[in-house]
Amino acid sequence: MALLRRNLKIFVTVMMVNLFIFILISRNSGQDKNGLHKVVIPSKAFWTKLLPHPAYWNQQQQVLNFHSNPVLQGNWTAAELPGWLNASGLTSDPCRPNYKVTTQIKDYNSLPDRFKDFLVYMRCRSYAAIMDQPHVCREPPFLLLAVKSLAPHFDRRQAIRQSWGRAGVTANRTVATVFLLGNTTAGDHHPDLSAMLRYEGERHRDLIQWGFRDSFFNLTVKEVLFLEWIQARCAGARFIFKGDDDVFVNTRRILEFLAGLPEPRAKDLFVGDVITNAGPHRDKKVKYFIPESMFVGTYPPYAGGGGYLFSGDLAARLHNASRQVALYPIDDVYTGMCLQKLGLAPEKHKGFRTFNIEEKYRYNPCAYKSLMLVHPRTPQEMIQIWSWLSSPGLTCQ
Ligand SMILES: *[C@@H]1O[C@H](CO)[C@@H](O)[C@H](O)[C@H]1NC(C)=O
Ligand SMILES: *[C@@H]1O[C@H](CO)[C@@H](O)[C@H](O)[C@H]1NC(C)=O
Ligand SMILES: *[C@@H]1O[C@H](CO)[C@@H](O)[C@H](O)[C@H]1NC(C)=O
Ligand SMILES: *[C@@H]1O[C@H](CO)[C@@H](O)[C@H](O)[C@H]1NC(C)=O
Ligand SMILES: *[C@@H]1O[C@H](CO)[C@@H](O)[C@H](O)[C@H]1NC(C)=O
Ligand SMILES: *[C@@H]1O[C@H](CO)[C@@H](O)[C@H](O)[C@H]1NC(C)=O
Repeated sequence: MALLRRNLKIFVTVMMVNLFIFILISRNSGQDKNGLHKVVIPSKAFWTKLLPHPAYWNQQQQVLNFHSNPVLQGNWTAAELPGWLNASGLTSDPCRPNYKVTTQIKDYNSLPDRFKDFLVYMRCRSYAAIMDQPHVCREPPFLLLAVKSLAPHFDRRQAIRQSWGRAGVTANRTVATVFLLGNTTAGDHHPDLSAMLRYEGERHRDLIQWGFRDSFFNLTVKEVLFLEWIQARCAGARFIFKGDDDVFVNTRRILEFLAGLPEPRAKDLFVGDVITNAGPHRDKKVKYFIPESMFVGTYPPYAGGGGYLFSGDLAARLHNASRQVALYPIDDVYTGMCLQKLGLAPEKHKGFRTFNIEEKYRYNPCAYKSLMLVHPRTPQEMIQIWSWLSSPGLTCQ
């Protein structure tokens, strides 16, 4: 009987505790009705809807970003996407002239011709090689010098060959030189230099030429094709210098600089005359003018296109990144955009003088000794400066 009463006591106690817990929970769930556990349906979308950017380049970049986003990939069918994000636009032959832009950009008809030409062919990145030099990197060079040139600049190329671009072994390191050319076409009233160019190519075996129209706005095409060329023909190059054909490059100083680089820094190397906090010029008279209907935003840090130095390792990553960056008509800004895509920024080095040196030092051989690049210099000046620097008698403090 006592046992039964004890059991009853335990039973009642347990029941009381349960009742207490029940009351607690009911009170809390009373509060829940006003918020906590109820599924909240936001009255507005809490993510921003992807709307087409009014500027054409920005919009093209949105499309590329969307289609290269690994989270979204494969979860959409073309039918579900708004027309402007439609992937078929990307996969249809990008090298057919895209006349849709003529209506997609509101001030298209009033833009200077170079913009019209750029926009209609903006999606095309593949042009056949007219001349190639597969032999150049058969022995991978320590340093590849790649010079952007134009077909008629025979004298600049020859001066570079006779001075800072002399291929072979310098300071115990192998150096190879190539010139990057597009096609100067009859449509632009260029004289036909193709036979002379062929002769030059056979004689020096350092010309690389592609079948696109060699214009200022197509320099980005030259950049993309060169990045591809490095992967196909010169993936073993340790370092690459890319620059214009009107600069003097102190190749020995560059080799010295590279020899002193610690390994982690060498891997991500990208140095030059870096421009930060820049943006598009809105003055129509400036060479670098970009209309607002084309691009809105600021430029990432970039190294002036006169010449910069980077690692072969980074060249491979840049090549990958370039596929996800819409072509921009200014090549050095474009390369800055690709670096940004990789989470990198170019590094400024005061040895790169793309805005020249003080006039009073111009004829002072010692002024060039510690520099890596000076712009601009004529072919004769290149040969002169190189001979100063090569003279065993040169002594500088
Ligand atoms: C598609 O989205 C679902 C969730 O909606 C996700 O589980 C799946 O991984 C996504 N597929 C791909 C290929 O990303
Ligand atoms: C996507 O583009 C293709 C080809 O341009 C077109 O046939 C298709 O109708 C487009 N889809 C949408 C949803 O706009
Ligand atoms: C030249 O390079 C080779 C191989 O890298 C090395 O063995 C040699 O010591 C170097 N010579 C000089 C003078 O630096
Ligand atoms: C290069 O330009 C020349 C001269 O205009 C032309 O005859 C030739 O077809 C062009 N080559 C390519 C591949 O565009
Ligand atoms: C770039 O080259 C292509 C192919 O030759 C040409 O159609 C296009 O007009 C050029 N773009 C510019 C801006 O010159
Ligand atoms: C380039 O992209 C390919 C394919 O996405 C990848 O396999 C490769 O590792 C990438 N290379 C570099 C250097 O990032």
